[in-house]
Amino acid sequence: MTELLTTHAMGTDLERLDGRAKVTGTAPYAFEHPVDNPTYLHPVQSTIARGRITAVDTSAAEAVPGVLTVVTHLNAPRLADTSDAEYAVLQSDEVSFRGQFIGAVIAETAESARHAASLVHVSYDEAPHDVKLSADRDDLYTPEQVNAGFPTDSDTGDLDAALAAASITLDQTYTTPTEHNNPMEPHTTVAIWNDDGLTLYDSTQGVHAVRKAMATVFGLEPERVRVAAPYVGGGFGSKGLAHAHVVLAGLAAQVTDGRPVKLALTRQQMFVMVGYRTPTIQRVRYGAEADGTLTAIGMDVVVQSAKLKEFVEQAAVPARMMYAAPNRRTSHRAAALDVAIPSWMRAPGECPGMFGPEVAMDELAIACGLDPIELRVRNEPENDPETGNPWSVRRLVDCLQEGARRFGWADRDPEPRVRQEDGWLVGTGVASSTYPLNVMPGSVAAIAFERGRYAVRIGAVDIGTGTWTALSQIAADALGCPVGSIRLEIGDTDLPMATVEGGSAGITSWGSAVVAAARAFRDEHGAEPAEGTQAQAEMPENPDTEKFALHSFGAQFAEVRVHADTGEIRVPRMLGVFSVGRIINPRTARSQFIGGMTMGLSMALHEQSVLDPRFGHIVNHDFAEYHIAANADVGDIEAVWLDEQDPHSNPMGSRGIGEIGIVGAAAAVANAAYHATGVRVRDLPVTADRFL
Ligand code: MOS
Repeated sequence: MTELLTTHAMGTDLERLDGRAKVTGTAPYAFEHPVDNPTYLHPVQSTIARGRITAVDTSAAEAVPGVLTVVTHLNAPRLADTSDAEYAVLQSDEVSFRGQFIGAVIAETAESARHAASLVHVSYDEAPHDVKLSADRDDLYTPEQVNAGFPTDSDTGDLDAALAAASITLDQTYTTPTEHNNPMEPHTTVAIWNDDGLTLYDSTQGVHAVRKAMATVFGLEPERVRVAAPYVGGGFGSKGLAHAHVVLAGLAAQVTDGRPVKLALTRQQMFVMVGYRTPTIQRVRYGAEADGTLTAIGMDVVVQSAKLKEFVEQAAVPARMMYAAPNRRTSHRAAALDVAIPSWMRAPGECPGMFGPEVAMDELAIACGLDPIELRVRNEPENDPETGNPWSVRRLVDCLQEGARRFGWADRDPEPRVRQEDGWLVGTGVASSTYPLNVMPGSVAAIAFERGRYAVRIGAVDIGTGTWTALSQIAADALGCPVGSIRLEIGDTDLPMATVEGGSAGITSWGSAVVAAARAFRDEHGAEPAEGTQAQAEMPENPDTEKFALHSFGAQFAEVRVHADTGEIRVPRMLGVFSVGRIINPRTARSQFIGGMTMGLSMALHEQSVLDPRFGHIVNHDFAEYHIAANADVGDIEAVWLDEQDPHSNPMGSRGIGEIGIVGAAAAVANAAYHATGVRVRDLPVTADRFL
């Protein structure tokens, strides 16, 4: 069992320590990092989806005043390692998807670089491309594993026999579209290549991860790559690993005689080059007894991957542990297409993978004549169905019941389409939420007593989540001192190694390292340390993660209004109740929950990247046409949490909170829309035309 911290700083509503720097505009983001004599890079992108470059005419581009050079596959420096196809930038004449980087203009200003990039003339030998995902393609393949290392398939009991024997069965297909991450700060990199090696000021979720990847690509010792990211304006997974633009900036920095190269991707480039949530096609099958007891759970997911590099979203994984049913079969199949490379987007796996099953639970509840909360209560598994391990903490039912109480669920009419107010059909819906505790090994923290304060050093990042504040609170508790006695340093590979901010694992991983370092410091130097004393420690292994099933849970509630004449859909009210272990800072935690729920609302109502099969690109690649929930869409969104500490997760007793807020939110909205209208929407987003 983990020894829990029990002191005072955690749980207090501390304002963001980086708040003042951010609101006064003095927090340096990557692109703003002051450098001497910068140059500016603008990428050249392919205008075909597949084929070969046969000729490049750069003369018009080179003639633009201020242009220093144009780099293409013909003259780009060679990379040391091209085994990761995403990083093999400008190394061959081959085009693998539309919008791929095929060149770069470097100029004295960003404007001249951009203009010149439009003048680079490229000739191609175009090959036919294949970009259409469907569940009946005959070339769907079985990947060796899916994202995060999960098994592709899982089979327990006898699904077919259980379905055949079930009193009530459901067999439906649900889809989620391609969605793109749109953090406020675009992906930006400043690259400097000189005798010291490569320095990158990069907007990233993990400085050490970028160092490792770029050291490999450029054939440098890791110590010769420095990456700094003190402030990051959001990522959601799209900055969880370096994408091709970081390589492009590094290549460019090799041909500017040591001058820094600044690159800021445009919003449109972000719809190609930094990953996206793959579309999913989810066949969900449930078999149940007449009283709603599940006997069979089937989930077969088809997703899209890129021919250039595989990424298979683990969308069927949550169905393996969510509800009790002795017979379960889940599978993933993928289509390798001539498209940009999919990647992480807030709660990969759980977010799309809870949509189909949670709408299906609503449908099953109706088929069984049960309240949808009661159906879920009846299917609570005693142990984790997938591993057989006991739950560390499983409080889904508490979340559902607390949410029902707060939301006014008891007054709900079980029948759909019974409430109408001023021409609006009104309904409510519920869905479950879940997210695993993830832990990444390897983070190291160092603590030094300097000028009367504790300098706490770890290469963690704050992507807007509150790391600056929460890690300072954890350090204060672990050292038994006020937060004001902590001086945290994060966001730089000059600091001790830290794992990436991803999988909601940041605070668990870094916090455990900070606590270990604090304990080592106190052991070595006592409570009244001398100036200059220091200690460091690596995050210890936590054997409990093998013995217990560690997952967070939540209940999402939504009220939906659909206009009876126009189909316009509004969501005036959302409530999320979460069981996530201990809350380290209620202010920043609430921000994560309501941010996740808002992103879930956005997924429910708007987000959908539309691919034109003729050209193979996303046509709605800007904020005019890719709609994201705006202030006017957001009604009363409230998030609350259960008072709890997880005895097995980490010394703080916390589990991650960055992703669970989005999980289940779209299903709650779709279920509420059904309750309002009697129209079942199984394909996101839930748009007005569905109700006409
Ligand atoms: Mo998150 S998609 O794990 O950065």
